[in-house]
Amino acid sequence: MRWLSIIGAATALATSAAALEPITVKGNAFFAGNERWYIRGVDYLPGGPSKLVDPLADPKICKRDIEYFKELGLNAIRVYTIDNSLDHDECMKALEEAGIYLILDVNTPTRSINRSNPKSTYNEVYLQHVFATIDVMGKYDNTALFFSANEVVNDKTTTPAITYVKAVTRDMKNYISKHLKRPIPVGYSAADVEENRVQQALYLNCGDDEAARSDFFAFNDYSWCGPSSFKESGWDKKVETYKDYSIPLFLSEYGCNNVRPDARPFTEVKSLYSTDMTSVFSGGLVYEYSEEENNYGLVEIENGKVETTEDYDNLKKQFASTKNPTGDGKYKTNGKPSQCPKFEKGKWEAQDELPEFPKKAEKLMKEGAGKPLGNPKTPIGGDDPEDKADNGNAGEEDGGEKGEGEEEEDESGAAGVVRWSVGAVAAVVGAVVAVV
Ligand SMILES: *[C@@H]1O[C@H](CO)[C@@H](O)[C@H](O)[C@H]1NC(C)=O
Repeated sequence: MRWLSIIGAATALATSAAALEPITVKGNAFFAGNERWYIRGVDYLPGGPSKLVDPLADPKICKRDIEYFKELGLNAIRVYTIDNSLDHDECMKALEEAGIYLILDVNTPTRSINRSNPKSTYNEVYLQHVFATIDVMGKYDNTALFFSANEVVNDKTTTPAITYVKAVTRDMKNYISKHLKRPIPVGYSAADVEENRVQQALYLNCGDDEAARSDFFAFNDYSWCGPSSFKESGWDKKVETYKDYSIPLFLSEYGCNNVRPDARPFTEVKSLYSTDMTSVFSGGLVYEYSEEENNYGLVEIENGKVETTEDYDNLKKQFASTKNPTGDGKYKTNGKPSQCPKFEKGKWEAQDELPEFPKKAEKLMKEGAGKPLGNPKTPIGGDDPEDKADNGNAGEEDGGEKGEGEEEEDESGAAGVVRWSVGAVAAVVGAVVAVV
């Protein structure tokens, strides 16, 4: 009898370890079940933006890399673009078994809001793509978050485009509530641009229409370089700036590389998961898993073979020796939506009134997106003579700057995992303690 019950318990544990609790938002924090969820992730775009491989549609690629995600101790990866016409079941399952969630950008180079001509891209062709991606990827328990857009605003001249980002966020939330079994949080990833980052955060969390407010906000941050500190990096000021922000906040890219040719020490990990930060921030994503032209890789991939770097070893050690705060990390539940920032000609040109949902997309909203069309090469939208900023596809292709004067090359990322499933928590905590 006794043996039997022990075996029964062990089996139950093993089974529950595979299923991940969906991620939810409470106050300014994420939760996996009853446990606060801090993102310990990497940005994952092997091949870089020029090749645009969908790493989650090729089990050979994802399964190769998941071994490294596990070794790093990750609980999330961010993928900047997928092909929504392909099958992602096997990779999503392998990620889930590794305790890893997906944070997904829904755009592609030709299916995204054009930052210099946003109005022409906000149409039924674009929304069909976004909604189809929600259908395809929203069915997995380990799809944690959707980015409605990435680095669309990247200077003073591109702020009008944020109005369209907010409209798309609204549309995605509405679509999710009509068509998915559970809410998947939707938010935006802002470029590492000092001049209007705060306005972006406030704007996306302001106004009376709950559906139009983001579920979370993220920004790229390259201000902690080398062996910096909470104060020297200015992270202390960011905690102060966002102390009343009512929704979760995290770093969608971090890992300044101006220490090259030396390896990055990743000393910021200790700070990011300490109570210095966790009342306001919920972790972040290291840029980036694979070495590409801009020299941010944790691993090098050649002919399909992975080689780890000193960056990788350093990050692995930092994660292994850095626990999450005990308790709830001092998150807040009593925050209020933000005040909408004031319109300022030439500086901040977001509109409080959002564009109406396109008439021609109403059928999609009601009946579903239909067939996913993958990544067509032909752009949507056209020239708007009123609007002549620079070029500007807001999708994968050209992200904003990487801070520290890096050219804006590619973005991508892989992420890792902490096992948050109820059954696995004990084992992982045990393992972490042993390492420490
Ligand atoms: C974005 O809009 C600009 C200005 O109208 C245009 O020149 C550019 O080709 C557009 N980009 C894409 C990818 O469609």
